[in-house]
Amino acid sequence: MNKILLIITTCLISPVIFAKSVQISSPDNKITVTISDEKIPSYSITFNNEATITSSRLGLRFKKAAELGEGFTIKSITKNSVDSTWQQPWGERKSIRDNHNEILVSFSTPREQANKFNVRFRVFNDGIGFRYEVPKQVGLDKNIEITNELTEFAIEKPADATAWWIPSRGWNRYEYLYNTTDLASVDRVHTPFTFKLANGHHLSIHEAALVDYAGMTLQQMRGGVLKADLTPWSDGILVKKQANFTTPWRTIQISENAVGLLNSDLILNLNEPSKLADTSWIEPGKYVGIWWGMHIAENTWGSGEKHGATTSETKRYMDFAAKYGFDGVLVEGWNIGWDGDWYNNGDVFNFSKAYDDFDLKAVTEHGLSKGVRLIGHHETSGNVTNYRNQMDDAFSLYQQHGVRQVKTGYVADGGKIKRIDENGIVRYEWHDGQFMVNEYLHNIKQAAKYKISINTHEPIKDTGLRRTYPNWIAREGARGQEYNAWGSPPNSPEHAAILPFTRMLSGPMDFTPGTFNMGFKGLDEKSDRPQTTLAKQLALYVVLYSPIQMASDLPRNYEANLPAFQFIQDVPTDWQQSKAIAGEVGKYVAFARQERASDDWYLGALTNEQARELTLPLHFLTKDKRYQAQIYRDGEKANWIDNPYEMIIEQKEVTAMDTLKLPLATSGGVAIRFKSLN
Ligand code: NOJ
Ligand code: CA
Repeated sequence: MNKILLIITTCLISPVIFAKSVQISSPDNKITVTISDEKIPSYSITFNNEATITSSRLGLRFKKAAELGEGFTIKSITKNSVDSTWQQPWGERKSIRDNHNEILVSFSTPREQANKFNVRFRVFNDGIGFRYEVPKQVGLDKNIEITNELTEFAIEKPADATAWWIPSRGWNRYEYLYNTTDLASVDRVHTPFTFKLANGHHLSIHEAALVDYAGMTLQQMRGGVLKADLTPWSDGILVKKQANFTTPWRTIQISENAVGLLNSDLILNLNEPSKLADTSWIEPGKYVGIWWGMHIAENTWGSGEKHGATTSETKRYMDFAAKYGFDGVLVEGWNIGWDGDWYNNGDVFNFSKAYDDFDLKAVTEHGLSKGVRLIGHHETSGNVTNYRNQMDDAFSLYQQHGVRQVKTGYVADGGKIKRIDENGIVRYEWHDGQFMVNEYLHNIKQAAKYKISINTHEPIKDTGLRRTYPNWIAREGARGQEYNAWGSPPNSPEHAAILPFTRMLSGPMDFTPGTFNMGFKGLDEKSDRPQTTLAKQLALYVVLYSPIQMASDLPRNYEANLPAFQFIQDVPTDWQQSKAIAGEVGKYVAFARQERASDDWYLGALTNEQARELTLPLHFLTKDKRYQAQIYRDGEKANWIDNPYEMIIEQKEVTAMDTLKLPLATSGGVAIRFKSLN
């Protein structure tokens, strides 16, 4: 995989004498980065000749060495250009072009110790990435402790910019409703942090290839300057490294409009190629599960009369999966440890021992005889030492039973991940600190040894590592469907119209769409149930990309509406290409995607609480081909509040020359399959 098809490389190394600044532009010349050593090392960005990121500081501070920053000047630069294409084993598009100009800027200062560092910038047409590269040197030769990353992102006219954000360093990790405010009112936020400048340009700050480093969140300093705010270890140190280290890439995606952000491959391009030689065992697909029943309190994870994960219930789900073409059945609550308040059971979970009413061998054999695999589950409730001690045995057991995918869970409040250190002392860590960054990746690497793919819930945010470890197949990392079962409030109508422009820029999400019965608490309880129409639930399968998609509702609710369920059966999860074709953050969004295994295209579009009509030209369809458009759209009187189910299913013959006018109800949507006819 990741085959380099074409590389054009030019290399220029030059010492810089008395230079105060150097520049590098994107291949299309729209983005220009200026790196300067005037006063302190800094960078700034213009886009379409307009100030975008103004002079922003660069540097690192350490516990035992002097700062890399103040007093340093540019010593030399190296330039390079790349234009190559690589392929994803699975993904939203098969081929990805990596076209960028690079500059490596070496800074130094005349002193004996801690006197040099490099910053590598890569400038693409869709944004930039830069990272620190700190060579081994006197003062930074071992046991390096970073106490402050000085990186800044100084935003042009922050009071006139609009931002969509969730708070960082909070108890609920990444599971918040998004805030929409002017950028000047932002305090501490997670990335991807997306905002729109007064001139309409859209930007998103994030990071790529977060490996062996603390997650970067942002904190606003005086006057619209966002500063890197690394999540600390339990002892207060931010990052612990050995000599000769690099940081993750700090990224800024930049586009003239909101849709441009959605079509960016910048994050993946800044990750390393796959470390897995054989990826044939990594399988995109669709699944159902013993899951929603627990979330709506019809079943329990723990033992007893309402226990969901029984042998007979699992067989019933496997029969359902086989009948309707699903690849897997997720089963939660089969292993010992769920009784009582399971979210406090991190110390007692056993990952190999089943409850008496669950026969792992019998259910997996039953499933495999019908072409359906069990999807495993490891809920840690945040005790990662207990999990680590059992991890190999647990993966090995699953592998013996044909399991190829495991969903993991780290339900614990922010800052309360429990670990026992090398001296036997209990420590509590953040989900996004360096310790957990390493722990999550350890889990992925171990799983790969057993040919198992991982879908991490309560994860560290995605930073494109699926390119390097394609068995990291999905994660949660935002409010998903589960909040529509018990969240108070549940997900708002705008939530799914914000996610594509924020959380989804980082990578696939296991949102688990597909609620067909909105009235499990009665349709009148407007505030605490799914705030969408049925057609919007279908649209989510195309809008929110994931190589694994769940049909999360109960089988009986799908069997009660087979015509609508047909779309979920048809929609693929692996794409030849994907194109965002319309959208404004928090208002509406439309994606078109071509199935990898056929000429069929799919379209998903959804809106916030505003009903609207989208006029969408079908230019994305293959020229000279005819398609049958199978349209699932909101009915004339549909609206999420008191008429969520009214849906029109209709067929039309179309070509790339046609334009569709698609009415969307309040919090409504549309899902279309374009079936190739010739
Ligand atoms: C939280 C996960 O997001 C959810 O999907 C799962 O059912 C529970 N944890 C239990 O593991
Ligand atoms: Ca969760």
